Amino acid sequence: MSNYHIKHLEEYYQVYRKSIREPESFWEEIAEEHFLWRKKWDSVLDWDFSTPEISWFKGAKLNITENCIDRHLTTRGDKTAILFEPNNPDEGSQHISYNELHIRVNKFANVLKEQGIKKGDRVCIYLPMIPELAISVLACARIGAIHSVVFAGFSSTALATRINDSDCKMVITSDGSYRGAKTIDLKGIVDEALESCSCVETVLVAKRIQTDIHMNMGRDKWLAPLLEKASDDCAPEIMDAEDPLFILYTSGSTGMPKGMVHTTAGYMVYTAYTFKNAFQYTENDVYWCTADIGWITGHSYIVYGPLANGATTVMFEGVPSYPDYGRFWDIVQKHKVSQFYTAPTAIRALAKQGTDFIENYDLSSLKVLGSVGEPINEEAWHWYNENIGKRKSPIIDSWWQTETGGIMISPIPYVTPTKPTYATLPFIGVQPAIMDENGNELKGNQVEGRLCIKFPWPSIARTIWGNHQRYKETYFSAFDNKYFTGDGALRDEVGYYRITGRVDDVIIVSGHNLGTAPIEDAINEHPAVAESAIVGFPHDIKGSALYGYITLKDTGESRNHNNLRTEINQLITDRIGPIAKLDKIQFTNGLPKTRSGKIMRRILRKIACNESDSLGDTSTLLNQEVVQEIIDNVL
Ligand code: WTA
Repeated sequence: MSNYHIKHLEEYYQVYRKSIREPESFWEEIAEEHFLWRKKWDSVLDWDFSTPEISWFKGAKLNITENCIDRHLTTRGDKTAILFEPNNPDEGSQHISYNELHIRVNKFANVLKEQGIKKGDRVCIYLPMIPELAISVLACARIGAIHSVVFAGFSSTALATRINDSDCKMVITSDGSYRGAKTIDLKGIVDEALESCSCVETVLVAKRIQTDIHMNMGRDKWLAPLLEKASDDCAPEIMDAEDPLFILYTSGSTGMPKGMVHTTAGYMVYTAYTFKNAFQYTENDVYWCTADIGWITGHSYIVYGPLANGATTVMFEGVPSYPDYGRFWDIVQKHKVSQFYTAPTAIRALAKQGTDFIENYDLSSLKVLGSVGEPINEEAWHWYNENIGKRKSPIIDSWWQTETGGIMISPIPYVTPTKPTYATLPFIGVQPAIMDENGNELKGNQVEGRLCIKFPWPSIARTIWGNHQRYKETYFSAFDNKYFTGDGALRDEVGYYRITGRVDDVIIVSGHNLGTAPIEDAINEHPAVAESAIVGFPHDIKGSALYGYITLKDTGESRNHNNLRTEINQLITDRIGPIAKLDKIQFTNGLPKTRSGKIMRRILRKIACNESDSLGDTSTLLNQEVVQEIIDNVL
């Protein structure tokens, strides 16, 4: 029996039990047999959830790029590592072999060094989904620089906040990006951001859209000529197991986005192991995850997990609707994709187009379908199963988070029987707990509550960059000695888990986590706005959409409300990005508040969700009268 590759349900249970009973020897064996180490560890796991301090494979030395690239060269040098599919299908795809990836990562790593980047320095990457994105991530890892990828849909203000928070010395970007029929001036966004970032010394610019852009002398450098001159030999920096590999920002309920810090060895072992099993990847498969590398899904399951297994991973630059809604299926057919991993929001958007766009394509190469990022509703699950999987490809509904680094609860395809809308069973090594509001663990089956994890797994984020206290408060304070996920979950009669959604003020819109506080802050900057509160409401494509209740300073405000709505959404686009725009804006004369002045979002959420008949007792509110007015004017 190979613990590395699980093929039967019985084997799953056996391996799972072993991973729980003897976690250290279990992970030690996986690490020992399947990875390349420059030095082995002194201890497998040290942990204390109260401080919290967690380390895996302490004392070990390695470089993750040796594991993701170099060690494959003798057996898979000519195999395609990255299969790049451009925005415009006429441009033609690119097959980047492991040999070529090795050369390109080494050259890029040497450019970083020449530009003064050293081990431990932070490098912000703000790129579209072009090969340079994956290559720059790996180049940072090659020399021990900590990458901080910022999704290229974020605004200049959001980018600046992230650059400053982790004190990045360099930004890697491109002259622009393609998004369907549109082009976006990425370099312009970077220039604007850098007006408020004194830490950045150098900007490397990849050419993508070939338009004239402004280059800031001394600071901005074209990437291509530097790469051309660079040597293709760059010895990997030998890293400690617990050296930071990257920072990735995620939204919290309140305040600044949190720079989650992932470290090297545990992250590598867990993403590789989960990739192999969750997708049942075998040597000649072509694997495609449609996420952007700007999110954790892209980090773990486009770059590190697949490459650590010597897989062929597709990188798609475009959007599902360009040139038409058949684009995904065109790519599946063209590259004979075996595993396809996407988000419920994409499935719902495609389902809305009907099946005409599917019928012209041969999808018979597909073996595994994946879903991630938000709960998948029953209708979308069945549509995916019937029309894309043709009822023969299992759907893995995988639950995890930026903070968890890798998949935590998910069926293993062809192993775990699936059940619509259920993430099913915990992954090997994962110990979930469902808690009630008083902090008691709900044992047994058929329980519902808050989802926690009781024991460390190798790829848990180790801290929040620059704010360990916040890490402790956010994840380890709600429940004693447990990691709190922020999600609700239920466990059914056979022990299957279903994620019921966020229990905090994070709203997931089209699979993107959005904190309400930064959006409210952006709205409140508008000179006409007195106060605002954001809640989520169900949306048939986005899953959830944003509903804003806004009170104006001058309630007799004579300005056109539609113009105000446009201005407010423009402010949100400028401060955060278009993903955070509000779908509905209701102007109100007040917001329901507790006697201590706290906005009662629970009531506002119910009204926005058309559940105003179950508001419960509102008599303790400071201003009960506004509730009826809000209900009467609900959009
Ligand atoms: C939600 C994405 C239900 C959840 C990898 C989680 C899900 C948040 C699922 C993390 C799923 C993710 N079913 N909900 N299969 N997957 N979520 O950090 O609320 O972008 O806490 O990581 O997405 O989002 P993040």
